[in-house]
Amino acid sequence: MSKITFPKDFLWGVATASYQIEGAWKEDGKGESIWDRFSHIPKKVANGDTGDVACDHYHLYPEDVKLLKELGVKTYRLSISWPRIFPEGKGQPNEKGMEFYKNLIKLLVENDIKPAVTLYHWDLPQKLQDIGGWANREVVDYYEQYARYVFKELGDLVPIWITHNEPWVVSFIGNWEGRHAPGITDFSTALQVSHHLLLSHGKAVRAYREMGFEGEIGITLNLVPVYPDPSSHNEEDAAAAIRRDGFQNRWFLDPVFKGRYPADMINWYSKKVVVPVITQEDLDIISTPVDFLGINYYAPGYIKADPDAWPLELKHVFTGKDRTAMGWEIYPEGLYDLLVRLHKDYNGIKIMVTENGAAFNDIVNREGKVEDDNRLDFLYKHFIQAYRAIQDGVNLTGYYVWSFMDNFEWAEGYAKRFGITYVDYKTQKRIIKKSGHWYKEVIKNNGFEV
Ligand code: FCB
Repeated sequence: MSKITFPKDFLWGVATASYQIEGAWKEDGKGESIWDRFSHIPKKVANGDTGDVACDHYHLYPEDVKLLKELGVKTYRLSISWPRIFPEGKGQPNEKGMEFYKNLIKLLVENDIKPAVTLYHWDLPQKLQDIGGWANREVVDYYEQYARYVFKELGDLVPIWITHNEPWVVSFIGNWEGRHAPGITDFSTALQVSHHLLLSHGKAVRAYREMGFEGEIGITLNLVPVYPDPSSHNEEDAAAAIRRDGFQNRWFLDPVFKGRYPADMINWYSKKVVVPVITQEDLDIISTPVDFLGINYYAPGYIKADPDAWPLELKHVFTGKDRTAMGWEIYPEGLYDLLVRLHKDYNGIKIMVTENGAAFNDIVNREGKVEDDNRLDFLYKHFIQAYRAIQDGVNLTGYYVWSFMDNFEWAEGYAKRFGITYVDYKTQKRIIKKSGHWYKEVIKNNGFEV
């Protein structure tokens, strides 16, 4: 046995998002979000679940902050519900909504827990979807106004800001596959959405700098280490894997860090779909320097060419690895590969893992405990890969486990549990799982025995 120790001041944390935990969907003047609308449409979410109550964090937040303290986290990543602040998406702010976040964030600060705040984790005001949502360029300006107001109110309390969570998911799961709100199924719309999300990111970064704050601001991307199907060795599969990387990773990384979209993807899309109008001015805004890149890592992607799969002409294959309850293959080395690649291709940028974790079918045992060894094992193995990457020079400064507690897992509803804290949705009782107790020790020792 030997102990691995992370760099001094490594930021250990846990993450959540507003719609997934808050509940109180129409309290204190909150407006409707696209997830409120979507989850109430029959069959869109497993078991007809909605975020109406969720973990009732809106009311139970003082208790939840105590739990965070108990876990000993250095930082907590949360998101703000835009329609709680601007019920109509724009115009007059709703003071009650802001009061909730102020109280929560003050409590975190008092407890020595650094708040990391995401401005957009998918709950767009429905009123803005009614005018076209992210496909409408006006929404970019409303987002900037929302961002400016939030910075003004909370900028002095919050040291870490994230403009967007996973713009790939918002664009392509929300607007192409339609499995997420707003449930649109049009690839060209999805591409347009991706460009506007990136543009709004750049505008928020500029606004933050202009307003003179001292904290850090970045963006969170869900990145996938992509490999060709290991069982075949043909050129088509290799090319499909590069395309998948372009679609998933470089389409977002390159504009933010290099000021351009990847030429191979522009070329590919031009032959298949409507490519958004992209000006040099937009690209300059999008590539406004950020302080860090947030990455969410869950699983690798193994790719085969598939000429019938429009428009990308590729498909995913499974390679026989163990899978989580989401069906995602477990591959901790993928995190290492991803981190090293980002370090190399994007100039040694500072990185934080803003989400990593796993869903498993937890049970509460006869002693009232949740012995989730599978999740503990998952985290253990991923932390080791993060450590390896740091040893190899990657500038990784923090790690947020998804999630602080079980919550509303989007299209999967409450059926999939990602928490290191168990939530009994009937009683709202929380139980720290075995993985949570283990994580607490990791944080305390800034490392662990391997
Ligand atoms: C990510 C989301 C997060 C959570 C995890 C499992 O895509 O950012 O809200 O649902 O997946």
